[in-house]
Amino acid sequence: MPAPYKPVRDDPPGVPARRAALKLLDAVLRRGQALEGALHNATQGLDNPSDRALAHAIAAQVLRRLADLDALIDSATRQPLPDDAKARFALRIALAQAILLETPPHAAISTVLPLVDGGPRKLVHGVFGTLMRANAALPEVPALPPAVAARWEAAWGADMVAAAGRAIADQPPLDLSLKDEDVEHPEGVSLAPRHVRLPAGTGVRAAEGFGEGGWWVQDLAASIPARLLGTGNGRVLDLCAAPGGKTMQLAAAGWDVTALDVSEARLARLSDNLARTGLSADIVVADALAWTPSAPFDAILIDAPCSATGIFRRHPDVLHRACPRVIAEARDIQAALLARAADWARPGGTIVYAVCSLEPQEGEAQAAAFLASRDDVAVVPADAAELPAGVAPTADGFVRTLPTMLVAEGALDGFFVARFARNP
Ligand SMILES: C[S@@+](CC[C@H](N)C(=O)[O-])C[C@H]1O[C@@H](n2cnc3c(N)ncnc32)[C@H](O)[C@@H]1O
Repeated sequence: MPAPYKPVRDDPPGVPARRAALKLLDAVLRRGQALEGALHNATQGLDNPSDRALAHAIAAQVLRRLADLDALIDSATRQPLPDDAKARFALRIALAQAILLETPPHAAISTVLPLVDGGPRKLVHGVFGTLMRANAALPEVPALPPAVAARWEAAWGADMVAAAGRAIADQPPLDLSLKDEDVEHPEGVSLAPRHVRLPAGTGVRAAEGFGEGGWWVQDLAASIPARLLGTGNGRVLDLCAAPGGKTMQLAAAGWDVTALDVSEARLARLSDNLARTGLSADIVVADALAWTPSAPFDAILIDAPCSATGIFRRHPDVLHRACPRVIAEARDIQAALLARAADWARPGGTIVYAVCSLEPQEGEAQAAAFLASRDDVAVVPADAAELPAGVAPTADGFVRTLPTMLVAEGALDGFFVARFARNP
């Protein structure tokens, strides 16, 4: 694909935001970057925060509905456009605005055509016009990218794929974890101790009292790993800690927490979160694959880096970035982290392993390989009483959350969590 993304002087109003959306899509789909990670570079030069928000919204909608948008485009072209064709990118952006973001069609196309100046303007204009005249619409239930659908159907079945598709269309609710059992919190539904769920669309700042530090945003599924460590009982190592959702849970539960992460920038957010909530932890900036503690811990939480496919509802870019190579690389790092950290638990100590992934290689298969590799660890099965209502342990005693669960309540992210004891 030729490089079409240089800032262009004298762009008509509205075009720079679309150019930024194009840069974001290029970063995610061609270079495998995270959408949030690409934001800073892609929106440089957009002075207006509403333009930055629009670029982000367009890119996120395209990533959510990519398979359906491409099917529409293919229905209106004689020959399929290559995946990385400039015309396909421009059409995705124009159609996402017209169909999903309620942009008037003339504005959606006129702000996109300058992106293909000197190129397939006529084709883009023609295909867009054909689709608009035909009142083109997207299917009510979004399709997953074909490779993801095939992988998840093989692992979890057709119902899970359908539920995941529906989850893409629904805005997820806002889950808060509470610092204290009896902290005052806004109206909402509680699905577990120290949890409240607010309706989809609730702004974080709008949650009354947010600034007072009584709660933090954390998907219900993401709160499960720390729940499996229970009430504070000594020293815990939170091994991949930043930005600190689980560190705060552990500190609030009374643990003496050491929060370690390799990313200084993400640890700065963890420090801010601790300051805001009035909780404390010892912070260590280190690569867990090179670091060694001076004394064993009573418990270790390994919230390992992963493909992150379980958080596709809020981060649709993961659906396009988590290819088999990325999943295999993450699996190898997780195995190395597990092998190393298990030696740091005291005899009788607890190890909790978690990933926000819907890939069995990073979850069930990883836990099985870990158990097979050591004779000093055993599973400590999760108990239903420790879990949110509606989530049950698996037959192996692990926790696996799927898009098919708690659907009527607003569902939850995809997580795998396993609890082990060392030398039990
Ligand atoms: C899933 S995120 C952690 C989320 C965090 N536990 C929370 O609840 O907010 C994974 C973290 O692992 C960190 N990480 C990746 N490789 C690491 C390594 N080799 N050593 C330490 N931390 C690492 C990343 O910087 C990232 O912050």
